[in-house]
Amino acid sequence: MHDKTRALMQRGTAFLGSEYAVLCGAMSWVSERNLVSAISNAGGFGVIACGAMTPDLLDAEIAATKALTSKPFGVNLITMHPMLFDLIAVCAQHQVSHVVLAGGIPPKGSVDAIKAFGAKVLVFAPTLALAKKLLRSGADALVIEGSEAGGHIGPVATSVLAQEFLPELAAEHVVFVAGGIGRGDMIAAYLDMGASGVQLGTRFACATESIAHPAFKKAFFRANARDAITSVQVDPRLPVIPVRALKNKGTEQFTAKQIEVAKLLDAGTVDMGEAQLQIEHFWAGALRRAVIDGDVESGSMMAGQSVGMVTAEEPVAEIMAQLMDQSEAALAR
Ligand SMILES: Cc1cc2nc3c(=O)[nH]c(=O)nc-3n(C[C@H](O)[C@H](O)[C@H](O)COP(=O)(O)O)c2cc1C
Repeated sequence: MHDKTRALMQRGTAFLGSEYAVLCGAMSWVSERNLVSAISNAGGFGVIACGAMTPDLLDAEIAATKALTSKPFGVNLITMHPMLFDLIAVCAQHQVSHVVLAGGIPPKGSVDAIKAFGAKVLVFAPTLALAKKLLRSGADALVIEGSEAGGHIGPVATSVLAQEFLPELAAEHVVFVAGGIGRGDMIAAYLDMGASGVQLGTRFACATESIAHPAFKKAFFRANARDAITSVQVDPRLPVIPVRALKNKGTEQFTAKQIEVAKLLDAGTVDMGEAQLQIEHFWAGALRRAVIDGDVESGSMMAGQSVGMVTAEEPVAEIMAQLMDQSEAALAR
């Protein structure tokens, strides 16, 4: 079964130790023990989203995930977490096999600290030059993630990144492609271009095993690709980190908030630091509110453009089987 797809995934599966080179990208609050173990048990590669967790919470999450699966899984750490090296130590205690460093350039010593306990390091790189530098300095694999993806994104589409990175890097390095993948046909296309595997988030976020609130899932099933929009920056003085999410009342309130703060800045009522802080803090806790509490109105409904292809709650194993069948059919064509 799936011979052509498996053959093209061979380097990816050897690297991950999984049956399929299909990662479920870490999604804060969503990618916890249940979804992660379900992905790995279905032959994919689950990744725990550490997000803002403390080392103690990460410790418990890894232990709980291990209790639910004997298959390999990874841990995603955000590089700007103030306790990054303590989190790496927790991964070391558990002999985690793969660590994904996300959210920025890995700080000095972090890649080495992970490799020191024998784990493999996956990194993101927004440019080809940085990708080459990270691979030279010890990173074991690369994830390229295009702007179609859900959550924090860069400005370039997956299709363009794939054309820029894969011809240069794929022969020698393990590269996973992420962003906007909703069907196996697309997996086949990136494998055919030289990718070792793929990473999906949105397609798995509302699987049966996902603990996301029923209201969060319902909003995904109803949404179309065009509803997953990027956050808008209103004033050049007030930087906004681009995030792709389903538009809701919170999106509008965020625009209003930026206008309000810009006016306060003009009037001299607040200084620049305070103004920027107010913008930065607007979405604090908002993803948790959406995923866990089901606040689809003012929470942050992070979703990629492939959300239009998510139409019903399905078990992870079924989604995985569909993706593999579609990829195989595409390669057979
Ligand atoms: C709800 C949500 C939360 C996410 N949180 C994180 C995160 O904490 N860390 C991270 O590296 N990526 C995060 N991502 C990105 C995913 O790991 C993955 O790369 C992305 O979803 C792939 O693109 P796709 O959504 O088009 O499949 C998140 C994505 C979503 C949809």
